[in-house]
Amino acid sequence: MWNYQLECFECHTQHSERDPGFRCAKCGGLLEVRFELEGRKIPWKRRQLSVWKYRELLPVHRNQPITTLFEGGTGLHHCQRLGKRLSLRKLYVKNEGENPTGSFKDRGMTVAVSKARELGKRRVICASTGNTSASLSAYAARAGMECTVFIPQGKVASGKMLQVLMHAAKIVQVKGNFDQALDAVVRLTEKKKEFYLMNSLNPFRLEGQKTLAFEVVDQLNGRAPDTIVFPVGNGGNSSAAWKGFKEFHELDIVKDRPRMMGIQAEGAAPIVRAFKQKRKRIRPVTNPQTVATAIRIGSPVNAPKVLNALNESEGLAEMVKDSEILNAQRELARLEGIFVEPASAASIAGLEKLLQAGQIERSDLIVCVTTGHGLKDPSVANSFQSPGYTLNIGDLSSLTALEKSL
Ligand code: F0G
Repeated sequence: MWNYQLECFECHTQHSERDPGFRCAKCGGLLEVRFELEGRKIPWKRRQLSVWKYRELLPVHRNQPITTLFEGGTGLHHCQRLGKRLSLRKLYVKNEGENPTGSFKDRGMTVAVSKARELGKRRVICASTGNTSASLSAYAARAGMECTVFIPQGKVASGKMLQVLMHAAKIVQVKGNFDQALDAVVRLTEKKKEFYLMNSLNPFRLEGQKTLAFEVVDQLNGRAPDTIVFPVGNGGNSSAAWKGFKEFHELDIVKDRPRMMGIQAEGAAPIVRAFKQKRKRIRPVTNPQTVATAIRIGSPVNAPKVLNALNESEGLAEMVKDSEILNAQRELARLEGIFVEPASAASIAGLEKLLQAGQIERSDLIVCVTTGHGLKDPSVANSFQSPGYTLNIGDLSSLTALEKSL
């Protein structure tokens, strides 16, 4: 591991990683890990693609045993059929649903849980719209840690609930939304220091998530995409990826940096509104609503980081309707064989909208990040009763009868 500091994203005050809490003691800003990159040479060229390929750029000490389920190394799929539909030649999907628990969260959890072990923590906790809790409960099980998850009652997709139940985490359902659950967990961890917070306020988790950017560059043989599109909830994943692209740029591994596009659902789009109105601060949405429950977030904690990523990269933000999300989900599944959950399809829906508005060049090399597997949220199956889908009955009495079902 190379040297790093833990510092405030806003005022750059340095903090000890042994300090409890993930807010700057001076200004209340978000914390960030900063590696000293000057003069560094990359030692990892020949290693297999995975989160831990980039170990030198991850804040876990070398003699620390890591907790891993083999995360990262997800496919970067050239999507020619969907690309043709959108008049794009260079459209790729980075499918994070291929991670061990089915979402990008695993990149962060392998690092954050390993770090928690290094710091001697025994109890981990998070609030979640589903995937964070599914991932944390798996990694905590593997590390033999006690795990508690706070979830908004009735608003977590059933596949994710099943994962948490299987991994035997303690589940606390709150009568409220994700923002309220997170606020409660943050206040709880401030009071009860034995609980270690694993939400994206934890800067070590975001270090794992930045490896998505490293992999994309590696998979594109040393170039960055022109444009990369993310679904945005709390803004942790997109801002972590931007940090990754910047680090590779600083290390001279890549010459360019992509334009970052952040997509939210219309009913939960405080980042998009702040970006479009050129505001530095978001106005929280008090009652966020969307079919994409993973990004049903009204008060994103990483807003300063993601707004910075969108601005610094000269990127864009856009919001999409639930119907556009569900259409994009089906298109990706039918044309490319890639089944993602609704939140993930927001990146495809957002791309379509930005293309129609002429805000992205069709000659660009574009990567859409799909964040979670489609099987996590079987509730969309309900829409298959609508016209246009037929479930034929096979008559087994004779081959002739059976042929009628074709
Ligand atoms: N896509 C999926 C499938 C997610 O689960 C999330 C976040 C996001 C996108 C947004 O990522 O918050 O880093 O901007 N899910 C969190 C959770 C909130 O609790 O599982 P972000």
